[in-house]
Amino acid sequence: MRVVAADRAHIAEAAERLRSGRLVAFPTETVYGLGGDATNARAVADIFELKARPSFNPLIVHVADLAEAETVGVFDERARLLAAAFWPGPLSIVVPRPDEGKVCDLACAGGSTVAVRVPDHPVAQALLAAAKRPLAAPSANPSGYLSPTAAEHVAQAFGQADLMVLDGGPCTVGLESTVVDCSSRQHTTMLRSGGVPLSDVTSVVSDVCDGTRPDGEQPRSPGMLSRHYAPALPLRLNADSVAGSEALLAFGPAPFAGAVATRNLSIRGDLVEAAANLFAMLHDLERSDAIAIAVMAIPDHGLGHAINDRLRRGAEAGICTIADPA
Ligand code: TXA
Ligand code: MG
Repeated sequence: MRVVAADRAHIAEAAERLRSGRLVAFPTETVYGLGGDATNARAVADIFELKARPSFNPLIVHVADLAEAETVGVFDERARLLAAAFWPGPLSIVVPRPDEGKVCDLACAGGSTVAVRVPDHPVAQALLAAAKRPLAAPSANPSGYLSPTAAEHVAQAFGQADLMVLDGGPCTVGLESTVVDCSSRQHTTMLRSGGVPLSDVTSVVSDVCDGTRPDGEQPRSPGMLSRHYAPALPLRLNADSVAGSEALLAFGPAPFAGAVATRNLSIRGDLVEAAANLFAMLHDLERSDAIAIAVMAIPDHGLGHAINDRLRRGAEAGICTIADPA
């Protein structure tokens, strides 16, 4: 852990760190973010591990401006209006991912949408400009703890970690960004209240459903959205053998032989590597001719917990494709 002043030299060093796949905590106007290269699944897996998130909730992808946002997500007229009205600022906009998007699957929890925002903070902006890539950054707190609004909070929470923290002083908004889902053509839904009030959002786009109210008609904690968790083929978990008609998602040095197609999450049995590979490998296997995907047992500690959570949801969700934005 190294807390440093967010001056030019440290921002340049932080950008190099990010470009080489390591993590940097940085200030935004809302809260401090735990940032990593959004195009690098290993870096994103490290974020999940450091936060000890029990499941793979999708992360917010930070970009420099709307032009860069359009390279990571598909913006329709409504999403562009919201971006024009509130960016830079505390609004995250959920949009469909493009077919060959550069943001890794893990940052989007394997789903067909991506949450994007342009932070309104000079340090965040300078870091994005220097890193020259989108940054995935959840709030820089261990899962289940309060969001950090000062560098000291990050330092206290992650004392032992290999982490550089850019100290840009206290956050001015101090509350996370509002998350608005524009991925459905029929509905616009507020998924999380935050720095931009709902009334401001509705002054730009009418008919916004409040997905944060328990009686709202729209479903909505992303962890509960089955489309984030449903592969196109049935999953058979904790397999101790594989049938000739099945694909195999293997783990460890001794994968079973004879599957239609095989991907190994980590030959070395490394859970961070496995997390980084999980969604991309499921996508690969569901495109095979197999009738189901057999999944070898994965240890249920560290990131293995989130991997198993994801796989269990996938197994329960049944047949419905990951890529379907329905
Ligand atoms: O203010 C903020 O948004 C801060 C700073 C660092 O930018 N970031 C933040 O990230 O609060 P995080 O990961 O703690 O919260 C992300 C929220 C979660 O509620 C997540 O479920 C939602 O955004 N989210 C992310 N991607 C999504 C997606 N594709 N669809 C729906 N919800 C998404
Ligand atoms: Mg958070």
